Amino acid sequence: MNKADLIVGIQWGDEGKGKIVDMLAQKYDMVCRSQGGHNAGHTIWVDGVRHALHLVPSGVLNKDAINIIGNGVVMSPKSIIQEMEQFENLEGRLFISDKAHLNLTYHSLVDIAREELKGDKAIGTTGKGIGPAYADKINRVGHRVGELLNAEKLCDSIMEEFKLNRPIYDALHVKTPTHEELLTELKEYKKILEPFIANTTNMVWAALDNNKKILLEGAQGTLLDIDHGTYPYVTSSSTVSAGACTGLGINPKDIGVVTGIVKAYTTRVGHGPFPTEDFGVDGKRMADIGKEVGTTTGRGRRCGWFDAVGVKHASRLNGCDQFALMKLDVLDGFETIKICVAYEVNGERIDYMPSDLDGVIPIYEDIKGWDKVEGISNYDELPQSAKDYVKRIEELTNTKVGLISTSPDRNDTIIL
Ligand code: GDP
Ligand code: IMO
Ligand code: MG
Repeated sequence: MNKADLIVGIQWGDEGKGKIVDMLAQKYDMVCRSQGGHNAGHTIWVDGVRHALHLVPSGVLNKDAINIIGNGVVMSPKSIIQEMEQFENLEGRLFISDKAHLNLTYHSLVDIAREELKGDKAIGTTGKGIGPAYADKINRVGHRVGELLNAEKLCDSIMEEFKLNRPIYDALHVKTPTHEELLTELKEYKKILEPFIANTTNMVWAALDNNKKILLEGAQGTLLDIDHGTYPYVTSSSTVSAGACTGLGINPKDIGVVTGIVKAYTTRVGHGPFPTEDFGVDGKRMADIGKEVGTTTGRGRRCGWFDAVGVKHASRLNGCDQFALMKLDVLDGFETIKICVAYEVNGERIDYMPSDLDGVIPIYEDIKGWDKVEGISNYDELPQSAKDYVKRIEELTNTKVGLISTSPDRNDTIIL
């Protein structure tokens, strides 16, 4: 029986998962999302055309692949309908789990209102309702995609909750829809989405049993994981490889090769600790050359040096067989490149990631820079100092680098 190969973000998201999933998807029969929602923004460039995906799996550009949105995803019907408009003939090649939870407009209104109330303690969420939708699921008051098939019943049930939670909505100044408005909206969603709703767990099992090649596409990144990330500055799902099992209904033995997607430096959107953040010219240069602007919210991404301590931690958590090292070209032309090899905490040197990153000071090693790796697709053509940088990352993280990406384009990738 085939196993499902897994792609997982190793830092704080936006590592370049979309590019690698799209590139690999050409050889896979099925691509599955298992967590997160339309907070994700996966950018793919093919022949000079940019595609930005949020909920639709990045296998969609391979016309022969089946794309699955698993039960672990929080699904915004409004967002996916908009996204689906850019693609033709999705029927029969896109399926949404009937057990995925609905993320509706009021979830995002609550998300935005809570963030505003928090003031300088805000998480810096994407405002897409991810936290409130997962909270409803865990509180057992959520609604699932399958319920759209009986829009009247679903509408009554949501209206009942609006009534129960009225004091909360009023305090947050969240305006909820009337019965009529909500029913019209839900019926519209049903009309468009009904052909796509399925028992996706059975579909993934059948694909595994029939030796189909399956790729699991992670969203967000390990350091944003609800348990293992920099809590509370995290997202609300299990972003680590283990989350793919619950988020699709497969077991750990079904997982094959785990590829961690790692940026050659570090970025983060939103608030929270970031030990290697660079507030000077180097960070600004990474942001400019790397075009570090969020795909989903358009916010500027914070930038800094490669943190080998965090990356080693993430590799162990996910069981990475290899890394895809992304955006190496963004470091082109830097005279010296810094790499964080350990942390200093209360005057002591540690080489592991503590549960709280507050007060952590990075300890750096300098590596000689190089002129240009942009567009290189053959390892032998890399300058020696770029090869040294890759080798040092492998040593410090106990993980081999299997792919190196040198531009946003599918073809500019070194496969080792
Ligand atoms: P994801 O969320 O992990 O899929 O990553 P995003 O799409 O949010 O952000 C990664 C950005 O980097 C996208 O704009 C990609 O087109 C771009 N990108 C991916 N790989 C490379 C690379 O090797 N070099 C450069 N310069 N850009 C890249
Ligand atoms: P992809 O899949 C980068 C961040 C937000 C915020 C925190 C919580 O493109 O890598 P949320 O809206 O999820 O409650 O926000 O998580 N965040 C991401 N950062 N890439 C993402 O996805 C992200 N999805 C959420 O910026 O700090
Ligand atoms: Mg992204």
